[in-house]
Parts: sequence; C-alpha cells; structure tokens
Amino acid sequence: MKKKIIMVLFLVLFVLPSFALAGGHGHDRAVKKGILLVAFGSSMQEAQISFKNIEEKAKETFKNIPVHWAYTSSIIRKKLAKQGTHLNSVATALAKMMDQGFTHVAIQSLHTIRGEEFNDLVCTVHAFKNMPEGINHIVVGQPLLSSQKDIEKVVAAIINNIPKKRKKKEAVVLMGHGTHHPANAFYAALMFNLQRKDPNIFVGTVEGTPEIGDIKAMLTAKKIKKAYLIPFMSVAGDHARNDMAGDEDDSWKSTLTKAGIKCKVVLKGTAEYDNIVNIWIEHLKAAMAHLKG
Ligand code: CO
Repeated sequence: MKKKIIMVLFLVLFVLPSFALAGGHGHDRAVKKGILLVAFGSSMQEAQISFKNIEEKAKETFKNIPVHWAYTSSIIRKKLAKQGTHLNSVATALAKMMDQGFTHVAIQSLHTIRGEEFNDLVCTVHAFKNMPEGINHIVVGQPLLSSQKDIEKVVAAIINNIPKKRKKKEAVVLMGHGTHHPANAFYAALMFNLQRKDPNIFVGTVEGTPEIGDIKAMLTAKKIKKAYLIPFMSVAGDHARNDMAGDEDDSWKSTLTKAGIKCKVVLKGTAEYDNIVNIWIEHLKAAMAHLKG
C-alpha cells in the first residue's frame, strides 16, 4: 500500500509535469500528436502499393507519431466492407482519434487537386474543431496541386518519370480524374506548364475537361503516331485499368488506336513514384509545423 502511494506521488510530482500539457476546455491533457492520411480510396488490391508507399514515407519522416487512415469515398468503403476490410470515413477516424486522446492531429489530403473531396474534408474538420474534450489542434495539409510551385515540382517529377524509351516526337498522355469543380482548371494549367518543357506531353481527364476527344484532336493535329498513356491519379485503379487501358470501344487506348496512334500503357499511380510522394510529404511537414505544440 505504502509502495503504491509512493508510486502515485512520484508520478504526480515528477513524471506528469514533464509532459507538455495541452490546455483545452477546462482540462489539461498531455499532448498526443497524430497523423491522419486521407485518400479517395481504392478497392483494388493493386492500388494498395501506392498507399503503403505514402504511409512508409510519412512514418519515416515523423518517427513515433501514429499514422491513421481515412477514405473519403463511401462507395469504396462499402465495397471494401463487403470484402471484410473496414476503412474509416474522415468523421469516424477523427472521432476515434478524439476518443483515443489525440490533442494534435495533422491531416494530409492525398487528393490531387483541391476539388470536392478536399472541400468536404475541410468542412468535416471544421465540425470537429469546437468539440468539447476534442482535438485541440487540427491542421489540414494541402493536396498535390495547390500552388504554382506545386505545379512546377509535379512537372519536374512527371518528366523524370517518363519511360526512358520514349522518343521526343512520341506523345505522353496523362489521365487525370477531372471534376465539375472549378479546381478542374489545374489540369489545363499542368498541361500548359508541362508543354513549356516538352511540347508533346498532354493532360486529359475522365470526368472533366480536357476530354479524350480534345486530346485526340491535339495529337492528330501534330501528326503524332505513338503515345504513352499514363495515369495521373495517386493509384492505378479502376479508371486507369478500364477507362484508360481497357479494351472497351471507348477506352482511351481504343479511341487513340482507332485514330492511328499506337498506344503504350503504363499502369503506375503517381503515389508509386517517390518524387511525387515527396511533394505530399512536404505538405504534411508544413501542416505539422503549424500544429502548435
Ligand atoms: Co472516378
């Protein structure tokens, strides 16, 4: 009994004060920092390589800080749940981290542009900011393309990642996701910046503009005979494997092949390249620097 009292006294007098204390809503709590990585998600096993790569880099950069995951796509989460894998939404992940006593959380968006998914993420985070007994500080790291500087870094990385066999007169066609959100303009901005370095690199989208029809017209106007098709999405998932590289009549490969352009497909997501992952990690570093200790 006496021993127990001494232990408690020791803890109260010496150990506890040595933890930094985070003031919040009337209680002082020990600082507990965490990272939440947020992706759109993918149900494809092949896509996991991208997510693993990012997670490893985050853990390497911030040793001893727990890394949690959330997927923003409810469709993907439902699909995965049916297969027995349970991924959290952003709200569930934050609620769990709150319950686990995290006081400081840096969230890194693994989205490509600041579109709807990113917007929703920011709105969810706002809802968590004023919770009693909640996470004291939450900072959101920016998606891949968030500034002109990011565009220039992505341009350099893309040019570096082009298969070495490709000749200058052959085209490189990147497939972005695309959206009705105004941030869709980043794809055209990326193409503009890429073409200043290499006029035969093109950026199209599946669900926004430029469309594959626009890209086909640009390629035929330049009398291009061969193109490398490369996904510009974090994972080489459903869109890359079917809409881009699939054998269906309206896939990008079929569309360009019918126009007399020979296609070579590369099935690798942007998050499989370290030079692109590093840009996300830089954004996470900036978010961590904003987390007040
Ligand atoms: Co889609």
